[in-house]
Amino acid sequence: MNTPLPKDFLWGAATAAYQIEGAVDVDGRLPSIWDDFCRVPGAIDNGDDGDVVCDHYRRWPEDLAIMKSLGLDAYRFSVAWPRVIPTGRGEINPLGIDFYDRLVDAVLEAGIRPFVTLYHWDLPSALQDRGGWPARDTAYAFAEYAAVVAARLGDRVADWNTLNEPLCSGWIGHLEGRFAPGVKDLKQAVDASHHLLLAHGLGVQAIRANAELPANIGLVTNLSGIEAASDRDEDVQAARRMDGHVNRWWLDPSNGRGYPADMVEVYGVEPPVIGNDLEVISAPCDYHGLNYYFRQIIENDPAGPAPFARQVPVEGAATTAMGWEIYGQGLADLIHRLTDDYGAQAIYITESGAAFDDKVAEDGSVQDLDRIAYLEEHLSAVAGAVEDGAPVKGYFAWSLLDNFEWANGLDKRFGLVRVDYETQARTIKASGHRYADIIAEHRSRA
Ligand code: FCB
Repeated sequence: MNTPLPKDFLWGAATAAYQIEGAVDVDGRLPSIWDDFCRVPGAIDNGDDGDVVCDHYRRWPEDLAIMKSLGLDAYRFSVAWPRVIPTGRGEINPLGIDFYDRLVDAVLEAGIRPFVTLYHWDLPSALQDRGGWPARDTAYAFAEYAAVVAARLGDRVADWNTLNEPLCSGWIGHLEGRFAPGVKDLKQAVDASHHLLLAHGLGVQAIRANAELPANIGLVTNLSGIEAASDRDEDVQAARRMDGHVNRWWLDPSNGRGYPADMVEVYGVEPPVIGNDLEVISAPCDYHGLNYYFRQIIENDPAGPAPFARQVPVEGAATTAMGWEIYGQGLADLIHRLTDDYGAQAIYITESGAAFDDKVAEDGSVQDLDRIAYLEEHLSAVAGAVEDGAPVKGYFAWSLLDNFEWANGLDKRFGLVRVDYETQARTIKASGHRYADIIAEHRSRA
């Protein structure tokens, strides 16, 4: 691939604590809302859970050796709040934070730059018992937790994500009920969304105040390009609402524009803003974290839940095993939107990747040519955007390892590396080898 990517472009891979670590009751960790959600009958495909998954909590040295062999520049992982402060607030669990302390040392030792996500959806259950994200206190609890982690790791970690995809915690967890905590209530969802954004803003302050190294901080949002299914006015309006729901609700307040008024009207619920919340939420960040998976073609759905709009399939489109359309151009479009509409000065693609029904060949290899094509298409989109002047600083493949794909359980495999959940054997897939080659090629030209 002949990419014009800058010399210092970062090549990374991403994971999240609950999706890979296992060891859920080890060294003082207490349950999170995902441990609880996995116990709800029917919540997770096949009744899967995160109890073991990749057993990364014990096997991380092997995973780190794989990262090194791929030639990664950066590794994005999340810290599990229920390990560090198991009851959510108050007492720090030394064994929990020690784990990340050792991991950071080893990642640095391997010549890899750690990007730490503070919240990738694993809220301590004790905080859910006290109201969870719909309760304002949870945002303050997050700020305390962020301060603890920044104080401990911030002498070596420079790169931080506050929250991963508040849309998923807010809308999917509290409006659609498909993710933990499984609530379906518009008022609670709007309250949760505001407290998530407030947590982000307070988190930025907490990191800046407690980390020793100058911090490079970003909020990670998952965005989708939105298009109307037809040029009928009702579909055009529905697409506008979906854009508000998916993109503007998160980007506008975090970029100093407040909540989009049209969406407050659509929801019929005012976000519970108090005092200078909007100022806190829009505290200057250093980059935008962009997770991209698909665009959405939208038609009007007056009988549906807010925002009264639904996604329709794209006829004839190639899709991943998740049923998500493969559309690399959508990544370039979002990069341009962040730059043109929101003035982004720096962007990391904090997640991009695909699940496919991988087959293990007789020789044990995984020839996932579909994932290679996906990777190349999306990297070309990034390269094209960079060529047009967009400030994209790095790309993190989702994911390093096959892992626990939330409500879809263990069946949907996104890894560059296959994990055999019976034996815990790791096998670098053809896509992992291809990624390593792309990185090596880039380096040899740089
Ligand atoms: C994103 C999540 C990540 C992973 C991918 C497929 O929404 O951030 O944890 O599950 O989707």
